[in-house]
Amino acid sequence: MRKISSIFILCMLFPLAGFAAGGPALDLEKADNSLEDKDSLKRGAVLFSNYCMACHSVKYLRYNRIARDFGWTDEEVVEAMTYGQNRSVDNVTTRMLPGVDEEVLGTKVPDLSLMARLKGSDYIYSFMRGYELDEKTGEWDNRLLHGTVMPHVLEGMQRHMSAEEFKQATRDITNFLEYAGEPAKLQRHDLGWKVILFLLVLILLTYLLKKEYWRDIKH
Ligand code: HEC
Repeated sequence: MRKISSIFILCMLFPLAGFAAGGPALDLEKADNSLEDKDSLKRGAVLFSNYCMACHSVKYLRYNRIARDFGWTDEEVVEAMTYGQNRSVDNVTTRMLPGVDEEVLGTKVPDLSLMARLKGSDYIYSFMRGYELDEKTGEWDNRLLHGTVMPHVLEGMQRHMSAEEFKQATRDITNFLEYAGEPAKLQRHDLGWKVILFLLVLILLTYLLKKEYWRDIKH
């Protein structure tokens, strides 16, 4: 019997062993962002446009989708994110001309649409905050992606903001990128509450109905 139970326990542990073998754990800061915070999402979209879109796209998103989800009008979204340079039906693509990345940076700049799903929000947050000055070379390096060709684009922002403000700004950008990875999440959250509310009302109604049915029956 004991043998059987230890085999059973071993089998249960196997999936855990699989996870543990996924590579060294990264030391990540918690992003603590919230998709329910629409103001944070709006700030994140504007910061993303100002600091990241010189190189990156989130090409699976359109401006009018963002408008609908964040509570902007079509005019407001293109004004906030592109100074009115784009149409609201356009996809959110980088302002960099094709091929310039490989010419100037020597590599292709990744699209960030699915980056939050690929690497997690905490990674994106920590990556933006992970730049450290290398004492020897005097150049910025990223502790999560050593030797990265992406420059420390938030250096000026970090210098001019308090630690708390910089946390919020990087959290807002992370929030926007988590949204970009799965825009339907916003509706799912909304729908979840409605379903729960519906079920509660249904329980109340069935309870009242039961009382009504059994009222005249002695039991
Ligand atoms: C000057 C161009 C440039 C700008 C501006 C820029 N990036 Fe990047 N980014 C890159 C390049 C190039 C890479 C690929 C890095 C590499 O392979 O070393 C990259 C990679 C990334 C990655 C993936 C990292 C990984 O582990 O693979 C993330 C996340 C990212 N950038 C986020 C941002 C965010 C957020 C901003 C705005 C705050 C931003 N980037 C602004 C050029 C840029």
